[in-house]
Amino acid sequence: MNILALFSSPRGAESNSTFLLETILKEAEKNGHEVERLDIVPLDIQPCTGCRSCWTNEEKACIIDDDYHLIADAIWKADYIFMATPLYYWWVSASLKLALDRSYPPPFEKFAGKTMHMVITGSEPPDNQCFIGIRDGFTAMCRYLGTEFKYFYTVADPFEHPAQKNTDAIAEAKAIGASL
Ligand SMILES: Cc1cc2nc3c(=O)[nH]c(=O)nc-3n(C[C@H](O)[C@H](O)[C@H](O)COP(=O)(O)O)c2cc1C
Repeated sequence: MNILALFSSPRGAESNSTFLLETILKEAEKNGHEVERLDIVPLDIQPCTGCRSCWTNEEKACIIDDDYHLIADAIWKADYIFMATPLYYWWVSASLKLALDRSYPPPFEKFAGKTMHMVITGSEPPDNQCFIGIRDGFTAMCRYLGTEFKYFYTVADPFEHPAQKNTDAIAEAKAIGASL
């Protein structure tokens, strides 16, 4: 199977969410899955202008010529779409929001039948209200897209509780990768 992995933390190699998604991917690769990795933070992804060309233009995913097309092309090929994001103000990172706005459907067939997995790290525990936005928002959004939504949320703080030292989170990430 083909896995597309989108990393969206601005914290680079130190990132909690990147580390946990990498842990998942390494296990998935052991099972023979092909992984395409895209760190979307340094990409040139312009904001959606709301022009609606994507609703009628079957030639191009979006009329804006920028790096978003790397993602649009990769989504078509992917069986699993993994996204890693820090929880920022109750939602996804700015880079991921830019990319998501640009992939506003149609075409639904780009997503239908696929599985969207999101790896989220935040400072607050999972029962805190901060996480409700992503959990419920993406669950509803994926239902609309015809895509299954799965998520892995863990508490991680860059200074006091980095994911790199969280043995429970690492074990859970490995189990997700191994289950693919
Ligand atoms: C701008 C900003 C907004 C944040 N908003 C939240 C939030 O709403 N809820 C939360 O639990 N943590 C919040 N955090 C903490 C990060 O989500 C947390 O440190 C996360 O593990 C960082 O992931 P990363 O290392 O992959 O970037 C925020 C951090 C920053 C810098």
